[in-house]
Amino acid sequence: MRDKWSSKVGFILAAAGSAVGLGNIWKFPYSVGTNGGGAFVALYFIFLIFIGVPLMLAAITLGRKTQLSVFGAYKSINKKWSFVGGLGVICGFFILAFYSTVGGWVIYYLKNALLGTLNTTNPDLLGKTFENLLNSPIELISYQFIFLLFTMLIVLKGISGGIEKASKIMMPALFIMLIVIAFKSVTLKGSMEGIKFLLTPDFSKINMQVAMNALGQVFFSLSIGMGVMVTYGSYLGKKDNILNTAILIPVIDTAIALIAGFATIPAVFALGFKVTEGPGLMFVTLPAVFASMPMGHIFCIVFFLLVLFAALTSSISMLEVCVSYFVDERNKKRKTSTVIITLLIFIMGIPASLSMGVWKNLDLIGGLNFFDLYDKLTTNILLTTGGFLLCIFVGWVLKAENAVKEIEISGNKFRLAPVWSFLIKYVVPAAVFIILINSYKEFILLII
Ligand code: TRP
Repeated sequence: MRDKWSSKVGFILAAAGSAVGLGNIWKFPYSVGTNGGGAFVALYFIFLIFIGVPLMLAAITLGRKTQLSVFGAYKSINKKWSFVGGLGVICGFFILAFYSTVGGWVIYYLKNALLGTLNTTNPDLLGKTFENLLNSPIELISYQFIFLLFTMLIVLKGISGGIEKASKIMMPALFIMLIVIAFKSVTLKGSMEGIKFLLTPDFSKINMQVAMNALGQVFFSLSIGMGVMVTYGSYLGKKDNILNTAILIPVIDTAIALIAGFATIPAVFALGFKVTEGPGLMFVTLPAVFASMPMGHIFCIVFFLLVLFAALTSSISMLEVCVSYFVDERNKKRKTSTVIITLLIFIMGIPASLSMGVWKNLDLIGGLNFFDLYDKLTTNILLTTGGFLLCIFVGWVLKAENAVKEIEISGNKFRLAPVWSFLIKYVVPAAVFIILINSYKEFILLII
């Protein structure tokens, strides 16, 4: 017998833990900044509602129906589709390779928060701190290693149950903390421009590039497209109502991303930072917000600690998918696989960590550095491909009608079943396909 979640709360905590991470707190705000603000936010919401949520339901349903992790789930319904699980594993490797770079930054900032060296509102000084970090290979690599070590130890010790219990306190704490920071941020003098930037969509800014990034961000933030949610859903029992869960997780996830946006962007405008800063945005801006708050020093420490926790609950879900592939499908030992995979990810991750500092001028493919290359490859190509295959599979191979039956097994009526089936069979594949073709085209043009 396979384990079941001890309660549905266990599932929700693990799934929300996977979804809420650096994608919400770090990536969303800076992507809003580099993709023109409100237009990106508006597209994000449209994609979230019409693509992200239906796919979340599809993934959880596929997992619960088969009671198997992602590789077995596809394979058990149609052997030809087992490659989708493999795609997820490759994707996990590449995401973790750059996710751990950022996880390392968080640990570095936590250390500096503890030392009290971030206590300034001066954009130049904070910019320097980040710049210094990017140019210190030893520190970058050490902190990245520590982040992966934490991730590995949690997966190795099978203590994710304990981590889930801890999320019961840490997640609400993070939520409240972000609300307080957002409140401070929107009440800073000069923040209005930032609020406008976030909320007024300038539709002339929407182009294929922005659409591609918004869709990628939906997949990345919801942890959809590499099998995490299929695997987690497989631990649900037939009595559990999956409908409300498939809505609840995106709601929590989006709330956190949006509040992180309000915590960061208005402060960017009020305190004189650059909204197009890119991946450093959160790290240069938020310390300035803390420095302008009473007891900001303490806030800064607690904040980076909570972000680290959120990042770890996401990274373990990715490592878990990679490890379980080698254990379930290749009959490898769990301990050995975990250690080897973590080491491989670490080695692959080093270039990502160095690529904005000492390897900055190493114009790799199409002028992208390793960090951007991994990011684009996963967010825009692999996850989106995984999402596309998921909707085709559930809509046409498993068949939407069967999926609806599975959803209704727990005894609840799925009133929007016709709408969902229509979305999953036609709208989602068509929309994702159009964007995907464009992503491939762009990626190929970059490479050649
Ligand atoms: N969703 C996480 C975040 O927002 C990252 C993540 C964890 C992820 N597992 C994933 C992204 C699986 C894609 C696929 O930080």
